[in-house]
Amino acid sequence: MVSVRINGKTVGMHSAPETPLLWALRCELEPKLTGTKFGCGIGVCGACTVLIDNIPFQACQIPICALDKAEVVTIEGLDTPEARALKKAWIECDVVQCGYCQSAQLVAATALLYCHRHPADCDIDEAMKGIACRCGTFPRIRKAIHQAAQSLHP
Ligand code: FES
Ligand code: FES
Repeated sequence: MVSVRINGKTVGMHSAPETPLLWALRCELEPKLTGTKFGCGIGVCGACTVLIDNIPFQACQIPICALDKAEVVTIEGLDTPEARALKKAWIECDVVQCGYCQSAQLVAATALLYCHRHPADCDIDEAMKGIACRCGTFPRIRKAIHQAAQSLHP
């Protein structure tokens, strides 16, 4: 059994050690953490982004055996001042369209605000570039990140 810290709890997983974290989150855990999305499964789309020790990673690319002593945070456990400010701004800026990529966008934006109090547009574009949004919500994502940063650090 592989033990992994997820959203502040240690959970034992019976999957094979090389199982990608994404499948363990979505299929093994009870309750299933389906907020982390499967897009491509090959490290291209970014829909499966989670935080590992506060850094965004693609959950489809990391086997659970590589997570010993790591802290994994998924959209379900994202509840810091930065995350709350972003969720509020996301609603106020009406960011979401179909919603499929948005868990990953919020996870990546939260990690960005951990490092930058007032990220510039170029910082935002760099931080978010690995997560595809077929609905084209990037202009609203950018606006919401600026708004959240301003609310945290007026
Ligand atoms: S599902 Fe992981 S990068 Fe696309
Ligand atoms: S909101 Fe539809 S893919 Fe991003």
